[in-house]
Amino acid sequence: MKIHTIHTEPSEKKGYRGQLLWFTDNPFLHPEEECFRYESDGMLIVEEAGLIVDAGEYNEMMRRYPETSVVTDHRGSLIMPGFIDTHLHYVQSPMIGSYGDTLLHWLNQYTFPTEARFYDKEYADTAAKMALRQMLSHGTTTANVFSTTFATSVDAFFEESERFGTRMITGKVLQDRNLPDNLRDRSTEESIEISRRLMNKWHGKGRQLYAVIPRFAPTSTPLQLKLAGELYQENTGRGVYMHTHLGECESEIEWVAELFPEADNYTDVYRRFGLLGPRSILAHCCIMKPEEWRMLYDYGSSAAHCPSSNLFLGDGQFRFWECTDATHPCQFGIGTDVGGGTSFSILRQIGEAYKVGMLGSHPLSPLKSFYLATLGGAKALRLDNCIGTFRPGHEADFTVINLHADEFTIYRLSHARTLQETLSVIQTLGFDNFISHTYVSGRNVYTRDSDRQFRYADEAR
Ligand code: GUN
Ligand code: ZN
Repeated sequence: MKIHTIHTEPSEKKGYRGQLLWFTDNPFLHPEEECFRYESDGMLIVEEAGLIVDAGEYNEMMRRYPETSVVTDHRGSLIMPGFIDTHLHYVQSPMIGSYGDTLLHWLNQYTFPTEARFYDKEYADTAAKMALRQMLSHGTTTANVFSTTFATSVDAFFEESERFGTRMITGKVLQDRNLPDNLRDRSTEESIEISRRLMNKWHGKGRQLYAVIPRFAPTSTPLQLKLAGELYQENTGRGVYMHTHLGECESEIEWVAELFPEADNYTDVYRRFGLLGPRSILAHCCIMKPEEWRMLYDYGSSAAHCPSSNLFLGDGQFRFWECTDATHPCQFGIGTDVGGGTSFSILRQIGEAYKVGMLGSHPLSPLKSFYLATLGGAKALRLDNCIGTFRPGHEADFTVINLHADEFTIYRLSHARTLQETLSVIQTLGFDNFISHTYVSGRNVYTRDSDRQFRYADEAR
């Protein structure tokens, strides 16, 4: 992935004025107060091609960039880098909120029948459109996404992402055993060939990125895991990902131990097949042995913490203090895990992450949570060279949190004395009306108070 340089010739610049908050370093490794920047009257400067020029105090920015042609006034709002969702299933949008079961039964009962419908391109197109709209209206500008078995499901999602110009990651889901005929890969070799074809079609096309996605160890034969590992290892040098599930609940872990008796533990199954590396993203990681964290650390792999899903499905609980233990500090981001998760909102997820931490007597501070929602997510996805913060040359994906969204918000926030208190209130209330605008590569693709809330990149300004 190349790092963009700033244009040296004069080009039109736009300013976005408001409170600015962005992270510059990892507060799990360094003192929190050294890891972020906050400007109470700030301005973000963006150039025509959609890259960040600068961010800082308003008067200083006006002095430095007198050629700034338009200033959009978001005073009364908090402007942050777009949120990053490190794990979700857009194909589960039609069945989110299907209640009342354990993971393995829930998959059979609700998930598999829904995903089986995605061979139909129209069905897939509608779900992709809905999912992208949900993400943008909740301030999410990048997500690491499960499609499903069918190439149609991958094409539908990338096509819609291209229209908005969002940086998104997805790929064909590899699953050749232990699931219904109408969702299962018919041929293991062919499943890899379809993946390769989709990878060559989409990876690096505009902002789109490809992932090799074995659903989880129980739904792939050893041969499929082996071939998936080879495909990943051959292509990860050019930025291709591996995305799967790991250690979500006890019954799943017991099943994996029966299916792969030769492996030392669940994580070791993936290691043996070459599926671990710096672009491997493992969703959940709730029930992990110390040696499994050590293995993820040694391979530079990242976890996706999906708190609302873990609560909804009654799974294990992610222990962030074990994930970030100083002897093997792993990167992790936040995932909605829609449709196990209960909302596309990253704000709501970090509200839930706080509660999951409290169940283990480890409060997660609001600054750490907002770091995870932005730069932390970018680091987990190895995209911190282009998104997740307001660094010059980074892609101008940002969202606007309206601190005056309604009378109760105004009332409650008038009692917040510090930035930390304000952030705690935002994540705890998690109201949908907090997000007023979302910008992708400097283009305003979502406006809450508008007759036309969504605009594709080619018609957005
Ligand atoms: N493990 C394997 N597939 C899934 C899925 O679709 N959702 C969740 N939450 N866990 C899984
Ligand atoms: Zn999932």
